[in-house]
Amino acid sequence: MIDNNEKKCRHLAVIMDGNGRWAKAQGKPRTAGHMVGADNVRTIAIAAAEMGVEYLTLYAFSTENWKRSKDEVSYLMKLPAIFFKKYMKEFLDRGFRIRIIGEMDDLPESTAAVLKEAETESEKNTGLSLNIAMNYGSHREILLAAKAYAEDYKNGSAGDLDEELFESYLMTKDMPPVDLLIRTSGEMRISNYLLWQIAYAELEFVPESWPEFTPEVLRRCLEEFRQRDRRFGGVKNV
Ligand code: FPP
Repeated sequence: MIDNNEKKCRHLAVIMDGNGRWAKAQGKPRTAGHMVGADNVRTIAIAAAEMGVEYLTLYAFSTENWKRSKDEVSYLMKLPAIFFKKYMKEFLDRGFRIRIIGEMDDLPESTAAVLKEAETESEKNTGLSLNIAMNYGSHREILLAAKAYAEDYKNGSAGDLDEELFESYLMTKDMPPVDLLIRTSGEMRISNYLLWQIAYAELEFVPESWPEFTPEVLRRCLEEFRQRDRRFGGVKNV
């Protein structure tokens, strides 16, 4: 028996890996891979929306990515400004809502300002929720949620903790859980990404690097997702 709610991928998360290796293989600097990768965010966001995805959460910069070279970090911090200058108008026309997850306070001021502006400009939109994870790490997210809850409990503004209440302290509050997590470029790791939110997600690891991840590959992934038998810990089809 097919339950449409279980078969629909409402929330897709992607670890966009392999930009650097893709660029190197073409004899280009790693940053050239990130530029092509950013352009591919537009392509895949449009394709995902057309394929019925409602929330697309992309890992653009992790709390661990600060360890990269100064030049690469500085490029990745400039990329949101380039990206939104190029595509924001189109995103607004398409009704996309931009949301940022991650610790914005630790980003360069100009980067945080661009991201906040994209959120504000699109906050009333009801189309695809395009969520950019920037300076995001799941351990930090859970820790911050625990601290915020403890504070609210102490001052009497929060009651006993349950899963639903805890989720309201996460950076993904108001979003459904992740249905499908895709990692590109052949690595099979989660890398501190959305650990709470992927509890019952399907996982797919594809060999293509992020710049090679086309709408056709996305279609294949969603098709594979629909073939999976999601049991959410229960027993079915016996
Ligand atoms: C992972 O490793 C990728 C990143 C750290 C950056 C991903 C960023 C983008 C695709 C640009 C998105 C930008 C915006 C503003 C939406 P890697 O690609 O360095 O992989 P590798 O070194 O393992 O090949």
